[in-house]
Amino acid sequence: MKNKLSNIKKAIKYLNKNQCIGIPTETVYGLGANAYSSVATAKIFKLKKRPKKNPLIVHYYDLKLLKKDCNINNHFLKLYKKYSPGPISYILKLKQGSLISKNVTNKKNTLAVRFPSHPITRNLLKKLDYPLAAPSANISTKISPVSKKDVQDEFGKKISLILDGGSSKIGVESTIINLINKPQILRLGGIAKEEINQYLKLNVKFNNRSIIKSPGQGKTHYSPYIKLRLNVKNANKNEAFILIKKRKKINKNYFYLSKKNNLKEAAKNLYKTLRKIKKRNFKSIAVERIVNKGFGEVINDRLKKASYFK
Ligand code: TXA
Ligand code: MG
Repeated sequence: MKNKLSNIKKAIKYLNKNQCIGIPTETVYGLGANAYSSVATAKIFKLKKRPKKNPLIVHYYDLKLLKKDCNINNHFLKLYKKYSPGPISYILKLKQGSLISKNVTNKKNTLAVRFPSHPITRNLLKKLDYPLAAPSANISTKISPVSKKDVQDEFGKKISLILDGGSSKIGVESTIINLINKPQILRLGGIAKEEINQYLKLNVKFNNRSIIKSPGQGKTHYSPYIKLRLNVKNANKNEAFILIKKRKKINKNYFYLSKKNNLKEAAKNLYKTLRKIKKRNFKSIAVERIVNKGFGEVINDRLKKASYFK
C-alpha cells in the first residue's frame, strides 16, 4: 500500500530522522531541520552551499521552548506581544546549557529567533519538541523562494518533502532586530522600520554592517544571476523592465510588481517576478525608481544586493 501518512506526519517523520524539509512561511519558504541536532543542521549548510560562518534563524511555536534557549528582555516581550507570530526575527542572548546546535550559532552566544504565522508551519512547530532552524530555502546568494515550486526548482530531488502552503503572503524575509543592547535593525523586512519605531517610541536605526558577513561571500545576494540596474527611466528593448506604476504602452518586456504603486503588493511580487524574468532568459534587467520608504526601502535593499552581480 502507498504511504498514507498526512503531510504533517510525514514532515515529523523526516525531521525526527534528521532530514531537512521545505516549510512554508508568510515571508519566504524555509529549509527546516531540528535546531538541536548537529547532524540535521549540517545538512542545511550543505544543501544551501552556505558558508558555515553564517548563523541560522530558529523558528519556535511560542515562548515555552524559547525560554530554555534564550534570555528574554522587555523590548522583546513588547515586540513579541504585538508582532509575533509574524514576519520579525529577534536577536537574543543564548542561554548557557541551551540545546541549540553549535552549527546554528557559529559557536557565538547570540541566537536569531522567529515565530512564523503560516498555519501549516505553526501546526508543525506545535507538534515538535524541538525548534526548527530554517534559512530561506534557496541556494546561497540566489533568489528566495515564495512557493513550493520555487523550492523544487532550487533543490530538486535533494530534499524529500516540501509542505505546500501556497504562495507566501509577505514575499520578502522577516525584519531582523537585535535586542541584546540598544535595539538595532539588522535586516529590513516584513515589518516596516517606521512601524517598529512608532510602537517602541524609539528611533531604531537600520545598520546592516553588524549583520554577520562571511569572508569571501561577496556582496551579491537575492540575485537571479542576471545584470540588473536601478532607477531607470526607460529600459532598452531587450531588457526586462520592472515597473511599479502602470504605463500607457504595452510592451512584452514589462514586468509589473504593482500597477498601482502599492509597495506592499510590490514586495510580495518581487522574487516571483525575478524568477519569471530568469525563466524568460533575459540577459539584463532594468528597474524603475522605487520610493525609499516602508516596503519600498525593503525592495530597494534586495535589488541593490542583486545588482552587485556582474
Ligand atoms: O523570513 C525569514 O526570516 C526567513 C524564513 C524562512 O523564516 N528566513 C531567513 O533566513 O531569511 P536566512 O538564513 O536566509 O537569513 C537570516 C539572516 C542571515 O543574514 C544571517 O546572517 C542572519 O540572519 N543571522 C542569523 N543569526 C544571526 C545572529 N545571531 N546575529 C546576527 N545575524 C544573524
Ligand atoms: Mg536567505
